[in-house]
Amino acid sequence: MAKHPTFACQSCGAVYNRWRGKCEACGGWNTVIEDSGSAGPLAGPAATRPSRAKGRVFALEALTGENRPAPRTRTANDEFDRVLGGGLVPGSVILIGGDPGIGKSTLLIQIAARVAAGGHRVAYISGEEAVAQVRLRADRLGLAAAPVQLAAETNVEDIVATLSEGAPPLLAVIDSIQTMWTETVESAPGTVSQVRGSAQALIRFAKTHGTALILVGHVTKDGQIAGPRVVEHMVDCVASFEGESAHHFRILRAAKNRFGPTDEIGVFEMTDRGLAEVPNPSELFLAGRDLATPGTAVFAGMEGTRPLLVEIQALVSPTSLGTPRRAVVGWDPSRLAMVLAVLEAHAGIKLGGHDVYLNVAGGMRITEPAADLAAAAALVSSLTGVPLPPESVFFGEIGLSGAIRPVTQIPARVKEAAKLGFSSAFGPPPLGEAAERATLRAFAHLADLVAQIAAGRRRPARAAE
Ligand code: TYD
Ligand code: MG
Repeated sequence: MAKHPTFACQSCGAVYNRWRGKCEACGGWNTVIEDSGSAGPLAGPAATRPSRAKGRVFALEALTGENRPAPRTRTANDEFDRVLGGGLVPGSVILIGGDPGIGKSTLLIQIAARVAAGGHRVAYISGEEAVAQVRLRADRLGLAAAPVQLAAETNVEDIVATLSEGAPPLLAVIDSIQTMWTETVESAPGTVSQVRGSAQALIRFAKTHGTALILVGHVTKDGQIAGPRVVEHMVDCVASFEGESAHHFRILRAAKNRFGPTDEIGVFEMTDRGLAEVPNPSELFLAGRDLATPGTAVFAGMEGTRPLLVEIQALVSPTSLGTPRRAVVGWDPSRLAMVLAVLEAHAGIKLGGHDVYLNVAGGMRITEPAADLAAAAALVSSLTGVPLPPESVFFGEIGLSGAIRPVTQIPARVKEAAKLGFSSAFGPPPLGEAAERATLRAFAHLADLVAQIAAGRRRPARAAE
């Protein structure tokens, strides 16, 4: 039977029956290419198996059956374990995505070495570098003595056969999934169907042998090779490794986790000896802060269970352009637009004739709505030229009415601020039992905060709660 060509988006995996310039599923341009090896999402041995009219009967189990918590193996890297939800779960599959050169291979050879040093069988399969290159890096990181089993291999059938010999590895790292290819799929390595088919074969191995599998996935912007999104739905945990090339720290952020929370982050610093864990990231993010400058506010945020203080910087300057500029780094531009609109509508702050720049210091990316108040404070401070009290932190979500809305985990935020020497906190009412730890200033409405900042450093009456 003649096979119709199929076309697949190399970024998100959407399948089309004809070529198109723009993928309708993810909006990517020029990402749809012919991918005729695709037999749909089930490509792989299942698709090539001769059809059986009658299925095999398998045992069904009760939901109330024996329930053992998944035993985990800690990798002895606290930041990595935190993101996984407490260590490696046997048979689980973790996808780690990130830009090329961000440090994925460095992190994973370090993790592999730590786990191997604990007396477990660990295999590190590189499809990108020769064994000598991986060894050279491990040598430079001081890990050469770790009993990690190394190979440079890209054929999935060979990899599965090799790993199946002897005791199954506790951990196998595949660097990267885009370089792998399986004989069951016709198309070229790096295409959607190859990446999917290879991932499926490796995942099947992990599930049947109880091996924790880490797949590295490059994020690709040009869509020439399939991105990690193509396999996201097949794995148990998806984490992205992020950072700016200009900064030394890197953040591992879980986006999906079947065995743990998804809002945890792990913070690392890239050094000449590899990635070092950063147990107290607030100190790192606040290092080198300029206290007397208007336009900077410290946000007391939460990343999962951990409080994190970061500096938000704003610059408001009169514009000569017809349409003033709004530029944001590290925060959601539509939230900035909302905060600017609320400042204008409910607090009398007119920024229509000003360019506005907002930057989260250190290259951190903030997603919490609780950052609204800190951003607003930084903006007002920059506009008025009045520096904010240096020993203060800010948190609170701003509603469209200008009301400052409560946020979660206020005690943890205030405690972290107090630990780092911040004596006062600006937040929504009621600030509750956290009150003993710092001087708290509760504001119910954005206009009250603006009046407070504009009045300079005059100390306010402590708000009633
Ligand atoms: P790498 O782990 O190869 O990135 P990826 O696998 O995500 O593509 O990291 C490469 C970068 O890390 C490279 O720019 C050099 C830097 N690096 C250090 O700064 N210190 C080190 O000890 C190592 C091994 C790498
Ligand atoms: Mg690499």
